[in-house]
Amino acid sequence: DDARLVDRYGRVARDLRVSLTDRCNLRCEYCMPPEGFDWLPAPDVLTDAEVVRLVTVAVTRLGVREVRFTGGEPLLRKGLEEIVAATTALRTPDGAAPETSLTTNGLGLDRRVGALAAAGLRRVNVSLDSLDRATYAQLARRDRLPDVLAALAAAHAAGLAPVKINAVLMRGRNDAEAPNLLEFALRRGYELRFIEQMPLGPRESWTRGGMVTAEEILASLRTRFDLSATDPAARGAAPAQRWRVAAHGDRPGGTVGVIASVTQSFCGACDRTRLTADGQVRTCLFSRTETDLRAMVRSGADDAEIAAAWRTAMWGKLPGHGIDDPGFLQPQRPMSAIGG
Ligand code: GTP
Ligand code: 5AD
Ligand code: SF4
Repeated sequence: DDARLVDRYGRVARDLRVSLTDRCNLRCEYCMPPEGFDWLPAPDVLTDAEVVRLVTVAVTRLGVREVRFTGGEPLLRKGLEEIVAATTALRTPDGAAPETSLTTNGLGLDRRVGALAAAGLRRVNVSLDSLDRATYAQLARRDRLPDVLAALAAAHAAGLAPVKINAVLMRGRNDAEAPNLLEFALRRGYELRFIEQMPLGPRESWTRGGMVTAEEILASLRTRFDLSATDPAARGAAPAQRWRVAAHGDRPGGTVGVIASVTQSFCGACDRTRLTADGQVRTCLFSRTETDLRAMVRSGADDAEIAAAWRTAMWGKLPGHGIDDPGFLQPQRPMSAIGG
């Protein structure tokens, strides 16, 4: 039916990613300069009620079934538990509750994960690029590895299964750690995914040739693990391609994912739409235009008008990120403002 968010290539957006703030308490090298950015002015950021209003339109009118809160660092929003609870209380037109999830750096998650689970949060993905305290402190520019390990354990204990770990590998920095990260994840029962770095951070932080590719990551893992491909049909629109890891000795088996956004783009199956912290619809991480829903909310537009504007925006979604196209330009806004 035409109430859904469809684009001219036939893709349907069922998955909404909401950036709740562009701020962060880490400074990961591939994401931010040491000084951070000029953050969005507070009045430009959607209030909790405005976030809930737009999520309500997406779920109840536009067929969105999954809502992921990101940032920046979404735990910096004091109202996160209330936003999650209000989202979980919504029903899609066919009567289902939307699945809510969180992508976070984990700082402070151990203290809030109980309340978030009680509010209806289903899953968390936690960023962790190194298990070596000094390397972590260099890459994130903050000495917070113990906080992240506590976050993972707390999420696991709270039953938010599967707890996923996102690791971005950078050549000569943490790429040699890939097998250790997998060993750690398998033993604790976390689902690890390695991510190819995308051109979204500080301009000088990414080059096509410098990026650690999915092929390299898999070759490095195969020196220590027996990997077998999983059924490609089961992947759906998930960014991660998954591999089964065989058990070995006292080490349990499990799965590992590789998110090869650059070398094996999954744009053709994309089912995502995005909302920035300042209330702009983006059809893609790499889209060149935005649609200002905040202005509509603040000028009294009704739900039907907002839904129509969102549908129009999605109709203009580009077929892919175009990273390999001649003349490719990095998005104007950093990933923390767009939403990871
Ligand atoms: P799950 O449903 O738990 O598998 O979540 P996810 O992998 O979709 O989300 P997560 O927030 O953990 O993102 C993992 C990585 O995938 C991050 O580097 C994201 O930026 C990247 N990613 C998520 N959505 C997209 C997308 O639409 N396009 C591209 N190129 N990368 C994406
Ligand atoms: N390329 C790929 N992944 C990135 N992330 C942040 N910046 C980049 C980038 N330039 C990851 C974070 C987090 C997720 C939201 O996106 O590590 O796990
Ligand atoms: Fe913060 Fe995530 Fe960016 Fe790291 S990657 S600085 S945790 S927003």
